[in-house]
This record gives sequence, C-alpha cells and structure tokens, in this order.
Amino acid sequence: MRLAKNVLVEQLRPNMKIVEFTKFIDPYSRMSEKVCKFLQLNLKGTTVEVIRNGKTVTCSINDLQPEDNLQRVFDIPDSLRRLTIVTKGLIPELKKRGFLGFTVQIAEKVPTTKQEKRQHSVRKANAFVQKVKENMQMREAASDAAKNMFDTVRRGNPNPDEIKGSINEVMSQSSPEALAAIASLQSSDQTYAHCVDAAAIFQSSYYAIKKKRGEKSIFPDKQLALFGAFMHDFGKAKVPKDILESTARFERDSREMKILQSHPVYGAELLSGMKMPSYIINIAHYHHVKMDASLNSNYPQGVKYEDVLMETRLAAIVDVYQALVGRRSYKKSWGSAAAIRYIDALAGTEFDPEVWEDFVNAIGLYPKGGLVEMSDDTLGFVMNVPEEDLERPEVAIFRDANGENYAQPFLVDLAEEEELEISQDLDHYEVLGEEAIDIFLSLQIH
Ligand SMILES: [Fe+2]
Ligand SMILES: [Fe+2]
Repeated sequence: MRLAKNVLVEQLRPNMKIVEFTKFIDPYSRMSEKVCKFLQLNLKGTTVEVIRNGKTVTCSINDLQPEDNLQRVFDIPDSLRRLTIVTKGLIPELKKRGFLGFTVQIAEKVPTTKQEKRQHSVRKANAFVQKVKENMQMREAASDAAKNMFDTVRRGNPNPDEIKGSINEVMSQSSPEALAAIASLQSSDQTYAHCVDAAAIFQSSYYAIKKKRGEKSIFPDKQLALFGAFMHDFGKAKVPKDILESTARFERDSREMKILQSHPVYGAELLSGMKMPSYIINIAHYHHVKMDASLNSNYPQGVKYEDVLMETRLAAIVDVYQALVGRRSYKKSWGSAAAIRYIDALAGTEFDPEVWEDFVNAIGLYPKGGLVEMSDDTLGFVMNVPEEDLERPEVAIFRDANGENYAQPFLVDLAEEEELEISQDLDHYEVLGEEAIDIFLSLQIH
C-alpha cells in the first residue's frame, strides 16, 4: 500500500515516488516561450493545470502557452521514471530546475514474514470495509444529485455548470472501487443509483484497461471519465416519469417502449446543448448501439459501429453488467460470475469482444465485496484480489458451514491455503437479503 503526502524539495527522500509536481519558482508563473518549450521537452506525456487569463485550465503539456501560470503537473507517464523515482542525484537536479513542491507516494514497508504479511492483509481488508462505509453516503448523495438533475431538466433550462458542479462535488470524494463494491452489495434503482454505480464500475475498469493496453485516456482527467459515464442515461430526463419509473415490461412496439428507446437521442441533444465534449455525447448517444445492427435491442438505428467509441462500447457493457448484478425491481439480481457468463454469450453480436475480454480481466473473476461459498461450506466476502492469481483471492469468512455467523470473522488467503477453494459465486440478495450491506459493514476482520 502507498500513502500520498505533500512535501517540499528538501523533504524528498530516496525511493519516494513523485506523482505530482505542485510548486515552482517564478519563471513558471508567467512562462516565456522558452520555458514552455523546456517543459514540453522534459515532461512529455504529462497533464498540466495552469491559470490562463484568470481561469484554471487543465490540458496536455503540449498545449501549454506562454503567459500561463503553472500550478500542477500530473498524470506522469512511466517513461519519465527518472524524474519520479527519487534518488540522491535527482533531488539537486529538481532544485536546479526550480521544482519546489511535490505530491509523493511513500511505500509502506514491504511485509516479509508470514505473520507480517497476514497483518498487512487484515489491515487492508478492514480499511476497505471502512472505505465502503464512507462511500455509502457518497452514493446516496450522488444518486440524489442525479434525481435533482433530472428534475431540473424536466422543469426547463438545465444549467450545465451547475449540473457538472453538483455531480463532481459528490463524486470527486468517492472511491470508485468502494462504490463498485456497494453496487453489488446493495440494490440499485433503474435510473438514479444505476447512473452512480455504472459510473463507478466504468471508471475503475476503464483506467485498468487503458493501462494494460498502454493507451492514453480520452478523458483529460479521471473525474470527467466518471462524469461521462454518469451521464450515459441523461436523456431519460426527457422520458415522462410514469414511463421511466414503471416496473412493467413494455411490449416491443408499444408507444412507451418507443419513448423509452429515444433516451439516447434525447441525451445527445441535451448534452450538445450543454456544449459537452464529443466523447461524452458519443456515450449517451450510442450506448445501445449493437455490433449486429439487425438486433431488436439496437437503437438508435442507422449508426455505423465504427462511429461508436471504445469508451462507449465499454459503457454499453458496464450498463448491462450493472443492471444484472444490481437491479431488483423486476428480476432477481445476479452474482458477478453469472452476469459474466450471460454477457459472454453476447460478445461478438451485441458487444465488442475485445473490449469485453479486457473488461472481464479488469474486474476479475471475483470483484471485491463479492459473496462466495467456500469448498468447506463457509461463506465469505472477497477482499483482496492478487493480480497474479485472480482465482485465489483473500476472503473474509463470516459464516460457518451451519449458517451461524462467526463472532470474529477472519481472513483466509487462498494463495496460502491450498486445500481450500471457492466453490461458487453467490448473489448477495438471494442469500443475505437487504441485510447484505449491513453484514459487510459490520465486519471486523481478524
Ligand atoms: Fe441507456
Ligand atoms: Fe443505463
């Protein structure tokens, strides 16, 4: 685990990892052309925050301009390791260049003995439970913000800055990883909480995929990725409430179904009116476009699949995945593995098979917070999933084979316990009902 900390150049120590440059000497506060060029050459591939004409602007370092007042350099690519992994030689060099303040990550001491390793895992698992607890309120606030946003649209002129501001305010403090766990622990509605949950799953899987592919994100920052996915169903704000909130299943050619299926077009109209970036509009507009255009579930019709961005293709997968694992209004929810099996059969006809494969690898076989049954009939929640072996995560066992809860739930590391394995992935709701989230939050793991 790594801890983030703000430090000055004098406080840098070998082995710290710099993730942001945050303070600079004067020539950077009103940059000359020469200084701009110097930065562009030396900090290639990074993102910068500057004050330009009194406004805070975030852009690629390539778009730096003379007169900009540099505030922050971040998103530093691995290719700049020589400038981010602190060594004795690097410190005077940074000083000489006028870089004065940094955000660094300090690696926690690597656990060596078995016992240390175990304590470390237990701490990490308990920290995750705590994080989920904190994010519960966030999710509620974000889903309220979504509801308000829909109401504003229904009343007339939506104010884009206000909407962006209120959503960002709540989402910026959230942890997508914790939100994604909540998405499977607690039921979500079809619209508001669905937007929050889908956004969280989108953001965490998207960045994992991009990292694995070695590609750059289309979004200038993570916040905008969350926001873009959050807005995918924004067009539903123009669908009358009685249709939107109905739990009935509408006939294929019914008037209601036609209105409901207009939400991507409505969304694109609303977002274009709000001058949103084209990739955000693409997600709202095309997230129901299928690879095979002859399918009934393909709408709007007449869209070429090449025009559907990779981001939108991923959003389409996340949309269905979230609906399967989290929705309870007219069908039971599914465990993650069952949802994966179901969507797997549709990859290649409905969904982009390459994006699908990357998505499955990104969320893992057993997402954090998932409920599993062990080969000795005990029940547990998946906590830490090692990258090396997705099938053997650490599991917090809370219920014994007779269905009694343990007074002291404990962590088992399947990488260590070779005789034990996960026998099946379960649906939280089916096994634990509405209590799933409370059971999870009360875990005090030993
Ligand atoms: Fe949709
Ligand atoms: Fe959706």
